[in-house]
Amino acid sequence: MPVKTRREGTTAHVTLDVPPVNAIGRETRQGLIDALDWVEAEPGLERVILAGAGRAFAAGADAREFDGPALAPHLPEVVARIEACHVPWIAAVHGAALGGGCELALACRYRIATPDASIGLPEVTLGVVPGAGGTQRLPRLVGLKPALEMIATGKPVSGETALALRLVDELAEEPVFAAEEVNHELLSTMVAVGDLPGPAGDDEALAAAREAARRRMRGQIAPLRAIDLIEMSITEPLAEAQAVEREIFLKLRTGAQAKALRHIFFAERAARAPDWLRDTVPAEISRAVVVGGGTMGAGIAYAFLNAGIFVDLIETDAEGVARAQGNVDKIIAASLKRGLIDEAAAAKRRAALSVTQDYAIAREADMAIEAAFESMAVKQEVFGRLEAEMRPDTLLATNTSYLDVNEIAAVLGDPSRLVGLHFFAPAHIMKLLEIVRGDATSDAALATGFALARRLRKLPVLAGVCDGFIGNRILARYREAADTVMLEGSTPWEIDAAMVAFGYAMGPYEAQDLSGLDIAFANRRRQDATRDPNRRYIPIADRMVNEGRLGKKVGVGWYRYPGGGGKVMDPLIEDLVREEARFAKVDRRAFEPGEIQERLVLAMINEATRILEEGIAQTAADIDVVTVAGYGFPRWRGGLMHYADTLGPKAVLKRVEAFAQEDPVAWKPSGLLRRLVDAGKTFADP
Ligand code: 3HC
Repeated sequence: MPVKTRREGTTAHVTLDVPPVNAIGRETRQGLIDALDWVEAEPGLERVILAGAGRAFAAGADAREFDGPALAPHLPEVVARIEACHVPWIAAVHGAALGGGCELALACRYRIATPDASIGLPEVTLGVVPGAGGTQRLPRLVGLKPALEMIATGKPVSGETALALRLVDELAEEPVFAAEEVNHELLSTMVAVGDLPGPAGDDEALAAAREAARRRMRGQIAPLRAIDLIEMSITEPLAEAQAVEREIFLKLRTGAQAKALRHIFFAERAARAPDWLRDTVPAEISRAVVVGGGTMGAGIAYAFLNAGIFVDLIETDAEGVARAQGNVDKIIAASLKRGLIDEAAAAKRRAALSVTQDYAIAREADMAIEAAFESMAVKQEVFGRLEAEMRPDTLLATNTSYLDVNEIAAVLGDPSRLVGLHFFAPAHIMKLLEIVRGDATSDAALATGFALARRLRKLPVLAGVCDGFIGNRILARYREAADTVMLEGSTPWEIDAAMVAFGYAMGPYEAQDLSGLDIAFANRRRQDATRDPNRRYIPIADRMVNEGRLGKKVGVGWYRYPGGGGKVMDPLIEDLVREEARFAKVDRRAFEPGEIQERLVLAMINEATRILEEGIAQTAADIDVVTVAGYGFPRWRGGLMHYADTLGPKAVLKRVEAFAQEDPVAWKPSGLLRRLVDAGKTFADP
């Protein structure tokens, strides 16, 4: 039974019980209607306490239902009846009270939450607006500005913040007990939120919210529609505005953006150990060695410390030790400053870290991860030393971005211990973790990698061994397509602007400036020996590096950064590109933004289908997670392969074939693409 009811004296308990997080589907809505019927028929009740079983109050409407038609009874009806009920309802909130869950709480006469509860209306993150009165009741309760902030960004607030906003009336560690204690007279004087007057108007706040939504959630429809609805709460009666809200909610629900955002929401939750690993027991990790304390190693070390794992950071010399310690200290200080941790948590992290040059420390560790210089010789030496010190049952991991995991494993006595754990910078913030399976990697090593990812709160995606694994291999094609368009007619800024218009936060050239051009340069030198001689090679980025234009860190790359500040277009680059085009005997021509987007995105899609075909990625949804969580592909387009499905494999193949007329090597359609078209299947089909 999704909704449980019981009576204790004059109190009725209504408890949502839909594991794991009480998502509200049709049966739950019906259960609530039945509970309302029961409450209304029961004589002598003083209060109804609405709570959630398990770890949450309610995670909101069951988004799995959104692909079909809206099924009665609808949530607005439930909310209206709770609010109008002659017995006052109290929401006893613990864990998440999100979306429809928050709307249920808003319908109650009184709200009590645990201090660490998470309360909010995150509907815009699923491409919809609140659909059961949230845009009308929240501003009535907390005022216009906080409602704009919460609904238009979708960010929930803690119980503590909710109390400060008067979104909840009381905090308690045991909200159900506290609800039993609420004074009856006080309860009977509480006004229904729907009966409160609309919030005071504030044109400035509305304009600022619209501006922020356009900037931070660029290209997305729902946040702007939500702001329009919140504006209605200032002047319009609840019933009328709520009817408009419902209409917009239902319309957005079936739209492309909501579908894409739902897809990526569920794809991220499906990113976990594959079924065939379910019975393999992962090793317990309480102490880890991190080799290399540069930006990456320090970020990884901090991610481990955050998860309560003791870390021994190994560096090569005293200078390296001091630098590594400084790098971790900086992250701790920044986390403190941003209020992510308090002083006690910072002290705990400092106490759990040691930095040393002595590999003997690895004897105590349950695993080691290497984040050393991207050189095969260096990595092989590190693993030789680690293996000599560590217990034979411990996990060894490499954070390499490109190097062959099998070749690294070849130096080990037991290569089955080695797994690739490819973190993304900054490693303590970026969610994506590619888990790379070498030829010899054991199931136990993989299972431990996935369990570790869960503990670090990462999104793990299984990848096979190839140059660049999933993400960097796709990125290489993206950059190649961009360089081709640049050589044939566009400037880096035109290409960047086109990709920003597509939905990326920044284009490929600005992104290179940010990460530094030297790493990709070193990588290209590594690939020189094996590069297909028939493949067109565009040397512009090499010239940039040779001229010292390494990116933002030196103040100049594709753009110039005078005084280390904002980017400025550099006419010298246009000269350089024209010069290279002349060498290559290319007649330059203008590209429309749409054409630039098409070429860059299709190049990635074609490569991604090859990655699927070779089994480097397991599913199209995994590629979606990689491209969104690690490479800035617009979330509201659902990820690279979801977007490919919106175009359709047939249309993709047709365009790839057209481009192959210009360059048959770079645009050779993958076998899988052809097979999908022949079979009339989509990329999402298994
Ligand atoms: N609908 C359907 N399934 C949901 C769901 C939802 N709203 N919220 C969570 N789930 C599922 C997840 O898919 C996952 O399923 P799985 O175990 O099969 O993979 C399971 O519940 C547990 O979820 P998480 O792994 O995310 O668990 P966490 O504890 O890490 O997080 C949470 C819990 C904070 C509630 C998080 O799941 C979340 O943010 N959920 C979405 C909240 C949301 O956006 N609600 C608004 C929905 S739209 C709405 O309410 C419209 C209304 O206004 C009419």
